[in-house]
Amino acid sequence: MAKKGFTVTDHRSGKSYDYPTVESSRGPKGVDFRSFYKDTGCFSYDPGFTSTASCKSSITFIDGEKGELRYRGTPIEKLATEHSYLETCFLLRVGRLPSEEELNHYDLELRHRSFIHEGLRNLFDAFPQEAHPMSTLSSAVAALSSFYYEHLEMNTEEEYREMARRIVAKMPTLAAFAYRYSKGIPFIYPDIERSFTENFLYMMRAYPGGKMHIDPEGERLIKPIEVKALDTIFTLHADHEQNASTTVVRSVASTGAHPYVAISAGISALWGRAHGGANESVIEQLKMIGSVENVDAFIAKAKDPDDPFRLMGFGHRVYKNFDPRAKILKSLQDQLKEELDMDNNLMRIAARIEEIALSDDYFVSRKLYPNIDFYSGVILTALGIPRSMFTPIFVIGRTIGWVTQWIEFKKDAEQKIVRPRQIYVGP
Ligand code: CMC
Repeated sequence: MAKKGFTVTDHRSGKSYDYPTVESSRGPKGVDFRSFYKDTGCFSYDPGFTSTASCKSSITFIDGEKGELRYRGTPIEKLATEHSYLETCFLLRVGRLPSEEELNHYDLELRHRSFIHEGLRNLFDAFPQEAHPMSTLSSAVAALSSFYYEHLEMNTEEEYREMARRIVAKMPTLAAFAYRYSKGIPFIYPDIERSFTENFLYMMRAYPGGKMHIDPEGERLIKPIEVKALDTIFTLHADHEQNASTTVVRSVASTGAHPYVAISAGISALWGRAHGGANESVIEQLKMIGSVENVDAFIAKAKDPDDPFRLMGFGHRVYKNFDPRAKILKSLQDQLKEELDMDNNLMRIAARIEEIALSDDYFVSRKLYPNIDFYSGVILTALGIPRSMFTPIFVIGRTIGWVTQWIEFKKDAEQKIVRPRQIYVGP
């Protein structure tokens, strides 16, 4: 009878070993190599885990060849256009979209939980004013574990739920405080009369006493289109299966540490330019290029094998066709052009880079396409969000993904402390 799995032959000893397949519901199957070291005395070598699945997961599915992304089976395009970020959060955590009543309860609970302890508020004073909001945010989230130490041990669904809702509700407040501290302006407390996403814009923009900026036309409102655009950005960032920061969150979870410390570690991992920090770097790069005439020279730099320069916002480990999140953001950008004050020069430079990269053999042969970070910065700029807050906005959106992945890890009986091996080449 034909064997179902894989046979590995050690040509030194002539022995062969069989490894079973691990079934998937979609996408590639796995091979269960857990006994490989015991069988052969060798480690598998896979820097960057390009061929290694670290877990089984039922949260997010990506088909990188087709440019497909689904949360709990629902296509990202549907969530971004027909549902809100809070519905998406509920979907990720619970596995299905909420009823109207469930959504109302969820929304209200998050509003009431959005405040932070006054003691934690004082922590911000310890930072130099020029501190980057990502550094302050990562520290504040680690400190949050001191205020909710009880989440170290959780046994009931209710305890998991409370822990998850708390961190999702407080993240926008901590992020807005981190920003306001970096500017030396007073903190604005959450307003429970405002929705999750509007509240964040409010805490970023309001003057002391909760008064809103008055523009020359006497306009004081946060525009619904701005709330909708930011809500979509949160949805697109909500989860992305086993990326670097999620892998960090799961690794810290494996040691038995507090969930908020794991999320703080995820925030630190996200900050890097190869990951979430790319959104800040894209805008820096577009500004550095300065005008459409200079684009060719920067493309040449990106293609030069002797130059470490990379085109930020291009390329992805998994997407080898297009990033569906980038496609959604591009059409959002086109809609916003009509309604908001967009930086036309930045958009022209971005469009020219995209045009060249999509036809140039260097990018085409390496399957390098614009990713989510290529477009998010231009939109966030139009929403009046400063550059240093681009990655904290990614954090706000991704918190639900990290906490959901943390819980899935905890409930997975096959998981162990994360402890990769090495091939020693030293003296
Ligand atoms: N500009 C120029 N060349 C690139 C780029 C780029 N942005 N990205 C990859 N390459 C080249 C790279 O030099 C290599 O060429 P060669 O085969 O000749 O050595 C080839 O493409 C493969 O690159 P890699 O580094 O092996 O690919 P990876 O899967 O390890 O890295 C990546 C993926 C996203 C880190 C990388 O494409 C990159 O650094 N992009 C720029 C940063 C960025 O936009 N990051 C955001 C990713 S999406 C959101 C998120 O994850 O947070």
